Amino acid sequence: MEKETRLVHAGRDPGGHQGAVNPPLYRASTILYPTLAAYEKRNERIYTSYGYGIHGTPTTVALAEAIAELSGGVRTVLLSSGLSAVTQALTAFLRTGDHLLIADTVYGPTRVFCTEVLSRYGVDVTFYDPLIGAGIAGLVRPSTRVVYLESPGSQTFEIQDVPAIAAVARPHGALVMLDNTWATPLHFRSFEHGVDVEIQALTKFVAGHSDLLLGAVTTRTEELYRVARDGASTFGDCPAPDVCYEALRGLRTLAVRLRHHEASALRIAEWLTRRPEVARVLHPGLPQDPGHAIWKRDFRGASSLFGVLLRTRSERAVAAMVDELQLFKIGASFGGFESLVVPARPVRTARPWPAPGFLLRLHVGLEAVEDLIADLEAGLGRLSAVLTSEGEAAR
Ligand SMILES: Cc1ncc(COP(=O)(O)O)c(C=O)c1O
Repeated sequence: MEKETRLVHAGRDPGGHQGAVNPPLYRASTILYPTLAAYEKRNERIYTSYGYGIHGTPTTVALAEAIAELSGGVRTVLLSSGLSAVTQALTAFLRTGDHLLIADTVYGPTRVFCTEVLSRYGVDVTFYDPLIGAGIAGLVRPSTRVVYLESPGSQTFEIQDVPAIAAVARPHGALVMLDNTWATPLHFRSFEHGVDVEIQALTKFVAGHSDLLLGAVTTRTEELYRVARDGASTFGDCPAPDVCYEALRGLRTLAVRLRHHEASALRIAEWLTRRPEVARVLHPGLPQDPGHAIWKRDFRGASSLFGVLLRTRSERAVAAMVDELQLFKIGASFGGFESLVVPARPVRTARPWPAPGFLLRLHVGLEAVEDLIADLEAGLGRLSAVLTSEGEAAR
């Protein structure tokens, strides 16, 4: 079955719920046991049934099963946010003395967790150039336990050669972990490209409505699942069933929304490449993008999010452009129905970002694309007017 069909049917059992189309909302902390003997065996129920609210209720399990099916992994652990999925996955699989190889272009708070927390607990962290590909062999050590990727890179959208990196990492016994939030499993199939543990911020495209926080860790094997499950349970992190119910709703329309996001974003990206105020558009779906060939080889589509590098660095001119935008609202995150814009300020150590101009990050929502282009056109007009008044040429 195609993924679109799976999205509609995964995690549902109307026959088991009086014919209701959606799985009902089960709220539970306490789960009752019929006998003392059953209670004494509750630890195994963490993996196979319902033992205590932290480990899941029928509503959260419905979502976990749907995400695992969509991803093509074995099982999924749900966490209270995307960032929690990142930190719980890393914590579950790393020990003191382990070496972590992590892309220089990961989501900022992921980076901070590695430098501020993991390093405090004796994990040796090395950031690598996201364009390294098979060259990662030069950085792998006997103690390398995890290679962590995010593709495209946060804010700067470099595409990584995931199969080449996995082909080096796995024979060394290192786990390959990927944050697949940008593409979702609809547009990048992690487990077909050598990934062992897939992370997603369901907050973004799966939720789709900017009204909840949720994360997922999906594993290639049951064994890896149990490690991730134990980790999350030990920390006591879990999402509320209500939030999982909302995410299940979002999941049903994910394919349709993502197609619309992708088409509009690509059209706006192409339009921006023709604007004199723009130095470069950072979008792997553009043929001239340095990551385009690998993106085309490995991905089945793009998403809503890309970068726009302006020629100018004038904060005043950019503020004149962005502050008065009518449809692109200023705010973090992406994947919701509304278009967003934020300044991007990449922090890099392995592959320094030259910062030749002001970098914006756009999330293209579900509005009519003509209206969004008109909004940006007016904004670029305001930017040019300020530059002219400042005496700086816009081109
Ligand atoms: C790539 C990526 N991963 C993880 C996260 C964290 O998700 P959340 O906001 O649900 O914590 C984000 C948030 O922007 C993200 O961009």
